[in-house]
Amino acid sequence: GLAIGSAVAGGGHHEDAQYPDPFTSDQPYRDVLSSEFSSLSPENQMKWEYIHPQRDTYDFEAADRIVDFAERNVQEVRGHTLLWHSQNPDWLENGDFTPEQLRDILHEHISTVVGRYAGRIEQWDVANEIFDGNGQLRTQDNIWIRELGPGIIADAFRWAHEADPSAKLFFNDYGVEAINAKSDAYYELTRQLRAEGVPVEGFSAQAHLNLEDGFPADLTRNLQRFADLGLETAITELDVRLTPPESGTPTEEQLAEQADYYARTLQACLRVRTCHSFTVWGLPDKYSWVPSTFPEQGAATIMWDDFTRKPAYHSLLDTLAAA
Ligand code: G3I
Repeated sequence: GLAIGSAVAGGGHHEDAQYPDPFTSDQPYRDVLSSEFSSLSPENQMKWEYIHPQRDTYDFEAADRIVDFAERNVQEVRGHTLLWHSQNPDWLENGDFTPEQLRDILHEHISTVVGRYAGRIEQWDVANEIFDGNGQLRTQDNIWIRELGPGIIADAFRWAHEADPSAKLFFNDYGVEAINAKSDAYYELTRQLRAEGVPVEGFSAQAHLNLEDGFPADLTRNLQRFADLGLETAITELDVRLTPPESGTPTEEQLAEQADYYARTLQACLRVRTCHSFTVWGLPDKYSWVPSTFPEQGAATIMWDDFTRKPAYHSLLDTLAAA
């Protein structure tokens, strides 16, 4: 009953020789995705700037490719994402729209994108990263909340539910693995929205972990309190970054500790009855987002660049075997 997923790398439709799309050009990569995983998450291909590049233009090519591939391989798909502050196209962020127009734009987008894949996507990250680290709504950088107020969040869930009543609809964020101000904010919001009958059905922790931050020891307890509210839970973007020594190669100790973080995250999901989806944020390291964002860090995924397995891969397998 647990789907094991990976992000699918790439920006898709960008015809850029310098950045070939791994999903269309790297056969060993495709083989690993189809043989090792039972769920796929488009890493970028369903985000606004890719799927809705102009106001009147949708580009479904890359997203279709992933959903078709998943279907052929009997895999689930996690849709990512509909209401977010990041990776929005210029026409949207810099457009001169009235609140009514913006509302219509979001409604149309959700109906179109969720409707296109209705019945083929198990879980949708409807609202992504709406709180900052202090548990405050992103009222400045999130265009939807800034221009339309927080009520737009409930509308997004309602519209997604209308477009695909069978998809589980999630809040998704990073830094919410532990019980802290941010996860508390989600706890209060999901409780309130469900009391109002808004179709919020899931809460997921991305789990972009860092060896230097320590492991979020109360992860199980945190997921459990959302499960107790009746919510599905999930781990959606797990990776464990580290700072290798100057040689660039992680030490054995680092790899062992990383393997332990992966295993403990999976154990948390296995212990929580409503956690049915566990996804790593891509592999191998050459396709990881980490080094471009944290230049000193890397090696965050479970596979080396030639697809040989790291200790973290084996620790996940061992954890599943023991479950
Ligand atoms: O495909 C283009 C290429 O054509 C272009 O020339 C090149 C130049 O930089 O960029 C390529 O696009 C990049 C894209 O990833 C695909 O590789 C973008 O610049 C880059 O910004 C984008 O980064 C993504 C990031 O979200 C953007 O916010 C990462 O791949 C993706 O892993 C990351 O994922 C997020 C989740 O959606 C939400 N949670 C956090 C997570 C990590 O930041």
